[in-house]
Amino acid sequence: MSKDKQHPGFATRAIHVGQQPDPETGAIGVPIHPTSTYVQQELGKNKGYEYSRVSNPTRTRLEENLAALEGGTSARVFASGMAAINALTTMYKSGDHVVCGNDLYGGVPRLFNQVLANYGMEFTYVDTADARNVDRAIRKNTRMVYVETPTNPLMSLSDIEAIGQICRRRKVELVVDNTFMSPYFQQPIALGASMVVHSTTKFLNGHSDGLGGVVVCTTQQQAEKLAFVQKAAGAILSPFECWLVLRGVKTLAVRMEQHDRNGRFIAEFLTRHKKVKKVFYPGLHEHPQHELALRQMSGFGSMITFETGSLSNAKKMLKKVRVCSLAESLGGVETLISHPATMTHASVPRAEREKVGLTDGLVRISVGIEDLDDIQNDLEHALATI
Ligand SMILES: Cc1ncc(COP(=O)(O)O)c(C=O)c1O
Repeated sequence: MSKDKQHPGFATRAIHVGQQPDPETGAIGVPIHPTSTYVQQELGKNKGYEYSRVSNPTRTRLEENLAALEGGTSARVFASGMAAINALTTMYKSGDHVVCGNDLYGGVPRLFNQVLANYGMEFTYVDTADARNVDRAIRKNTRMVYVETPTNPLMSLSDIEAIGQICRRRKVELVVDNTFMSPYFQQPIALGASMVVHSTTKFLNGHSDGLGGVVVCTTQQQAEKLAFVQKAAGAILSPFECWLVLRGVKTLAVRMEQHDRNGRFIAEFLTRHKKVKKVFYPGLHEHPQHELALRQMSGFGSMITFETGSLSNAKKMLKKVRVCSLAESLGGVETLISHPATMTHASVPRAEREKVGLTDGLVRISVGIEDLDDIQNDLEHALATI
């Protein structure tokens, strides 16, 4: 709850910013505007909208909402998380260098190494858990530091405030992928990031029924550049999917509370289970960066990775789950379980995976908000097969 009468609290902003009743009808739900174009009164005179690749009223509402939740000045939404990250990189040019975390969602290094490197952009991957590695890797032509925290799937944390200070001193933009925590548990801009990206496909939407991505900006220049990319390249989010995210974020606060409660419980359960070799979850005291988690995040969320010991163990248990769904993705109300080495991170070469500890026995779980007993029993039953 907000104690400051001037600044509404998180849940209030989620439900009301950009979500005000339709001025024409009073409809409490934001209207979906499924239109490609807008009738103009006369040449050069319109109501602020000309063509839906450029802008759409439903999209405008979502962009206002997400900017308010992340504490940015504006936001730009795209057709998927990857489309948002791709749009972000078009702000840079051939010869520019990016320092990135070495344990990112597999699609990000795929985009960087297999697409953008062909256009002359340069990428260096370092363990951003130690902020000094970032400082060391920054060069004269470095323009951006790109960090995921917690990382996918090893749940390693990076100190946003410390990296933010380095970036300001070295005049480099810090971009944080906040998908795993959502703005409810982590506020990278308040900690010093200059932009935040999300796959809205995950917790922001929350119902596994649409793809989407967002870049939240802190300057007018960033917002203008990204609006230009929306217009010029066109990978924008459809009005219907904007509406799904607007509806989803209304319950973000309560969903995240429940995800967090279930996540903590399942992480403890897995830690005690004799078939599980190791659990990666920042909420555990034994997590090497638990102190940082307490400082930087206001909850631990529901993303957990655990070691089953081998590919065959992972295979056996994943075949048996019934309440948990074997599927890519995360952040939905339903528990999703996956095998990073062959699913989300299959595009990362084995040698690279091994270097960071992404083994064939790792299983990742996005704990949903079903009844805890049912999730636990399902995992118990599946783990009994290994
Ligand atoms: C942390 C993270 N960032 C970005 C993405 C890409 O998002 P999308 O699948 O919406 O393109 C994903 C996808 O899983 C992700 O986990």
